[in-house]
Amino acid sequence: MRIIVDADPGIDDALALYYLRAQADTEIVAIGTVHGNVPVHQATANALRLVERLGIDVPVAMGAAKPLAQPLRTAEDVHGHDGLGGHAGAEPKTARSHESAAEQLVNLARRNPGELGLLAIGPLTNVALALQIEPRLPELLGDVVVMGGALNVPGNITSQAEANFWHDPEAADLVLAAGFENLTIVGLDVTMASHAPQEWLDALPQDCYPRRILGFYADFYGSFLGKKGFVPHDPLAAAILVEPGLATYQEDRFAIELTGRYTRGKIVADQRFLAPDSPFGRDIAPERTKVRYATTADHATFLDQLRCAVTQP
Ligand code: BDR
Ligand code: CA
Repeated sequence: MRIIVDADPGIDDALALYYLRAQADTEIVAIGTVHGNVPVHQATANALRLVERLGIDVPVAMGAAKPLAQPLRTAEDVHGHDGLGGHAGAEPKTARSHESAAEQLVNLARRNPGELGLLAIGPLTNVALALQIEPRLPELLGDVVVMGGALNVPGNITSQAEANFWHDPEAADLVLAAGFENLTIVGLDVTMASHAPQEWLDALPQDCYPRRILGFYADFYGSFLGKKGFVPHDPLAAAILVEPGLATYQEDRFAIELTGRYTRGKIVADQRFLAPDSPFGRDIAPERTKVRYATTADHATFLDQLRCAVTQP
């Protein structure tokens, strides 16, 4: 499987790259960066640092610096001032490519129709911009997995909304409306249940880089959830892209709440049971293509895989 990664590294974004690098028959072909956890310049420098550290020779294109319709908000409280828990390190030696992340996504998809997967683990601004350039993007890409949403569980950045969708609700809604048939959403409903306990972290070698960057992230999650450990959102999305059988799904039509006072950025679906001959129609996005939303995952298998991936030399 050949994959384009769109990310805002980001500590769990970094782990997703470690996860993908370790999978047999899986190749990262390009990385696009986006605002979100940190400003996009920082996310881009971090992506370049990570490809150097991981020894993967792929283009890194810088993407959107801000959301489509709201001011920029970042999340250094979760990921550290440099986005990598204070351990970003020296400036990268490699230069980023000259095209934007949206252009890179469109150009690669056009050159390899139906062949490339997309893992989107940051706000969806770049994907929305790519759709403006190339509305046929859904037909040109293979499987698409998006990390975002909190459907039947509380949010994380607000009480109702998950961070990636909340950082750019308009972009997320455009992506859900674009007609992707091979789209899977991996939201907090399933990622929160993949919580890695402190013992998982303690079992990593002291000198391994993921362990160092996870310190800050685990401190955040310790104070947020009141239990030690961390939540591997983005690597779980990567795992589900590579191995869809790791999860179970519901199929539905989804939208993003754009106007709610408390609910802006929340993913919504009409989940009422309606008899086939019910006089009531669906009141959320009835015209949209159905996509898959992950509801359960094999967390034990995934956490074992992630441990192998982050300890691989
Ligand atoms: C998502 O938000 C970011 O903090 C993480 O990198 C992940 O992509 C989880 O809500
Ligand atoms: Ca992310």
